[in-house]
Amino acid sequence: MAMKEKMLKTLNEQINKEIYSAYLYLSMSAYLMSKNLPGFANYMRVQYQEEMSHAMKLYDYLLERGEKVILKEIAAVKTEWEDVIDIFEDTLKHEEFITDSINNVLGVAHDVRDYATINMLQWYVNEQVEEEAHVSGVLEQLKMIDGKGSGLFMLDREMQSRVFVDSTQV
Ligand SMILES: [Fe+2]
Ligand SMILES: [Fe+2]
Repeated sequence: MAMKEKMLKTLNEQINKEIYSAYLYLSMSAYLMSKNLPGFANYMRVQYQEEMSHAMKLYDYLLERGEKVILKEIAAVKTEWEDVIDIFEDTLKHEEFITDSINNVLGVAHDVRDYATINMLQWYVNEQVEEEAHVSGVLEQLKMIDGKGSGLFMLDREMQSRVFVDSTQV
């Protein structure tokens, strides 16, 4: 069954937001690398890969439904931050914005009674809960150590171990 125009437009906009997220985290990764924090840079580089996988899940879904994928321009992202705490505060704010956006997409799906899309979107609802919890956790730890000194050095080491696992495929 053909998708409602409004639903299609909203899903394409969400693809753009996920790629924008990827772009933002990649910029953060470059900044962190330049500040000699390779572990945090790795964390954000993995985050970039995760966001691309979120975009691709929607992309694949639209194609599977026989709908048109419309890729528009991706807005430029920030390139400078105060410090690591600033980065994670920005990340949390951005994830809250994305959660709000996912809720809106879900709202549209309910409005047009697109049950297949409602079903597909559940994955994103759960993912956002995990993302917000995870980012808040790192932010709390950073605040504990004032975002500097030997604490930061140790935390950076820990961040080195994060690897990308494509959770959209399970
Ligand atoms: Fe995402
Ligand atoms: Fe995210």
